[in-house]
Amino acid sequence: MLFSRFVRSGLLPVLLSRGLLATAAPDPCAKVAGLQFADPADAIACQKSFPFNETLRQNVLTVVSRVFDFFTFEDFYLNSPSPFQESTTNIRADIARINSTHYATDYDFNRDLWDFTTQLNDGHTRWFPNCYNSYQNLLPAPIVILDKGIFITPDAVEFLNQLGPGFIAFFAAKKFNWQRLAGAKVLTIGGLPASVYIDNIARTVSGNYLDHNVRVNSVVSSYRIVNTDFSQRLGDLAGPLFLTQTSLKFSLIPVNSTTPEVVDVPFVSDFIGAPFTDGPSYWANNCAANDQTNGVDLRSGSSVSRSQPRLARAALMDPAGQPKTAVGLPGPFLPNLPPTNGSTGVIKSFILPGNKTGVMFVGSFEGDFAQFPLDVDAAVKQFKASGVTNLLIDVTNNGGGFVCLGLFLHLFLSGSQIGLPGFQSTSRANPLAQKIVKAGIEQGHDDTISFYTPDNWLFLNGTQMPLDFDYNDPFSSCCRKRSQSADFSALRGLTTWLFLSSSIHVVIRTGVPDPNVTIPTTPPFDLNKVAIIGNGNCASTCSLFTTLMFERHQTKIAVFGGNPLQQIQYKGMAGNQVLEWADLDTEIKTAGLKNDPLAPPDLYGLEHASQLEKRFLDEKLPIAYVSEQPQFRFPYTAETYNNPQKVWLFA
Ligand SMILES: *[C@@H]1O[C@H](CO)[C@@H](O)[C@H](O)[C@H]1NC(C)=O
Ligand SMILES: *[C@@H]1O[C@H](CO)[C@@H](O)[C@H](O)[C@H]1NC(C)=O
Ligand SMILES: *[C@@H]1O[C@H](CO)[C@@H](O)[C@H](O)[C@H]1NC(C)=O
Ligand SMILES: *[C@@H]1O[C@H](CO)[C@@H](O)[C@H](O)[C@H]1NC(C)=O
Ligand SMILES: *[C@@H]1O[C@H](CO)[C@@H](O)[C@H](O)[C@H]1NC(C)=O
Ligand SMILES: *[C@@H]1O[C@H](CO)[C@@H](O)[C@H](O)[C@H]1NC(C)=O
Ligand SMILES: *[C@@H]1O[C@H](CO)[C@@H](O)[C@H](O)[C@H]1NC(C)=O
Repeated sequence: MLFSRFVRSGLLPVLLSRGLLATAAPDPCAKVAGLQFADPADAIACQKSFPFNETLRQNVLTVVSRVFDFFTFEDFYLNSPSPFQESTTNIRADIARINSTHYATDYDFNRDLWDFTTQLNDGHTRWFPNCYNSYQNLLPAPIVILDKGIFITPDAVEFLNQLGPGFIAFFAAKKFNWQRLAGAKVLTIGGLPASVYIDNIARTVSGNYLDHNVRVNSVVSSYRIVNTDFSQRLGDLAGPLFLTQTSLKFSLIPVNSTTPEVVDVPFVSDFIGAPFTDGPSYWANNCAANDQTNGVDLRSGSSVSRSQPRLARAALMDPAGQPKTAVGLPGPFLPNLPPTNGSTGVIKSFILPGNKTGVMFVGSFEGDFAQFPLDVDAAVKQFKASGVTNLLIDVTNNGGGFVCLGLFLHLFLSGSQIGLPGFQSTSRANPLAQKIVKAGIEQGHDDTISFYTPDNWLFLNGTQMPLDFDYNDPFSSCCRKRSQSADFSALRGLTTWLFLSSSIHVVIRTGVPDPNVTIPTTPPFDLNKVAIIGNGNCASTCSLFTTLMFERHQTKIAVFGGNPLQQIQYKGMAGNQVLEWADLDTEIKTAGLKNDPLAPPDLYGLEHASQLEKRFLDEKLPIAYVSEQPQFRFPYTAETYNNPQKVWLFA
């Protein structure tokens, strides 16, 4: 043990004789350096070459524990309401367990923290250590659940060939013919009935969504929009981020065969981190803290322009969806209808043959904030000009984005007469959060420098709070007595309506987020002729949007896919303002509270895109815990699972 630790930290030549050095294992990171596609066993050996470090554990767990003080849902985890029991856990007991477990390597410590946060099944509350998210493990056998059973994706060859010659050469060198598996019927995976194995991945690997069957849809391959392009997701069985597996055994029946056979399918590790040449440079470039890891004190003024209001965002973080690893939707399955105006961004709109139905595929609420309203307006104008009367909105794999844009879309479709277009929300007034609000008021901060300042909030009557209104103070009398969690039962008149940035005030007051877009006073389409489809992977702002449509207009919603024997929700992970670690740290530093005993320290060991966050939510039972099932469910078929246009025609 000690021996290998010293080898890896480079001290061996000083401490041991040359004879011993000669037999020492070479640096496992040097073996995979420069390879785009590496053998998973080799990549794991590199990642496991860094010894466990108690100093790092204390630093990381102190940050994690103090960030959880801001976590709105903590109490709900102790006894998660039906049908979300699978996520039940005692967060503080988990942290204490990880604090006292013996780990051999830094990888093992991070893996445990990764598993714990992943299994909270809340995509806003994750631990993403770049150090161990530097590869994506790819299995050349992505799966789909279709009307006729579970299959290797029939388009696997067209789909995976896009990964390029290095990917193909890797398997050719192993003499492994993955191409012949495309479309095979899958009987068992990992020695278990296929659906049981899928349930296990949904339970332990997928995370992000409270609803189990929504996670089943994350396990399998599906179509989506990444940035502004059509794409196909590998699914969590075939594209996990944390390297653990080297191969996976299937029993399957290939296309045109009737005989089941057992095939052990190898994984390949696709490098998505920062380049390195050996262990020390791997650590320096992928693991050590850099200037993005922690927050900054914005009062110093230099780093961020104060003229930009801090816009509320609620989105799923999907590092595996970054352009480097995103694979396009193969050409034959792209829509061949001409897109309408307003289709260059995250929204792709089409008019189905006959001009009766317009389709808006809303891929996310991210991207170009100003362009989104213009695109909605342009598509609806063209729909109207063509005589469209029915609107179909596809939110498949919509990971959320700017809260304001979700509310804008709801308002635009509802007409401005609907009034305030969102939900009431609340904040967790823990003692440090209360100090942040007070410090901001004392120093005269506004929403150009902080998310916490009162001008980011509205009263229930829609009026913006004055800069000196301490909205977190009244909470203290009610909440401190019970727990310091958000108080969902006692929202009173003086509490807030929604945590929003100043631009939404414009939407609410005048109905116009952009001077060039006019919100219709009445709905542009009969709301009974608006329908929403998706695969339940509709996160954060997307779930706020679909819940608003469902609860206020009883909009018809259909969910495709999932395990047909289990119920499914039409959305997941409803949330409001979400801050990543660096943003929360910026709030604390800008309030001048970094030296407060309650404040988390800087992360100094690892560069983490941590998304442990605080957020503000809605009244009584938060939307995330309200069970709402779609009125319609359909299986995907071999024709539709990767073909949005065929899904729309069917719908
Ligand atoms: C972890 O345990 C140590 C004692 O071994 C304690 O000092 C520290 O506060 C604990 N950290 C957390 C985050 O609970
Ligand atoms: C299966 O058989 C059909 C009909 O003979 C043929 O067109 C197709 O190419 C075969 N597919 C594979 C994967 O062998
Ligand atoms: C589409 O956009 C173009 C360019 O802005 C515009 O001239 C045209 O009128 C639009 N078409 C419809 C149907 O709105
Ligand atoms: C649909 O609308 C387009 C554009 O307005 C028009 O050119 C076309 O003739 C219409 N088609 C039908 C079937 O009405
Ligand atoms: C809205 O409510 C706040 C707090 O109760 C109050 O101070 C304000 O005057 C109200 N605004 C309007 C326009 O009614
Ligand atoms: C909105 O309209 C104004 C003129 O009224 C124009 O200057 C501006 O460029 C337009 N903005 C966009 C995003 O089209
Ligand atoms: C543990 O990590 C800390 C912080 O990066 C570092 O200063 C220390 O040298 C490490 N300890 C060992 C034994 O490597």
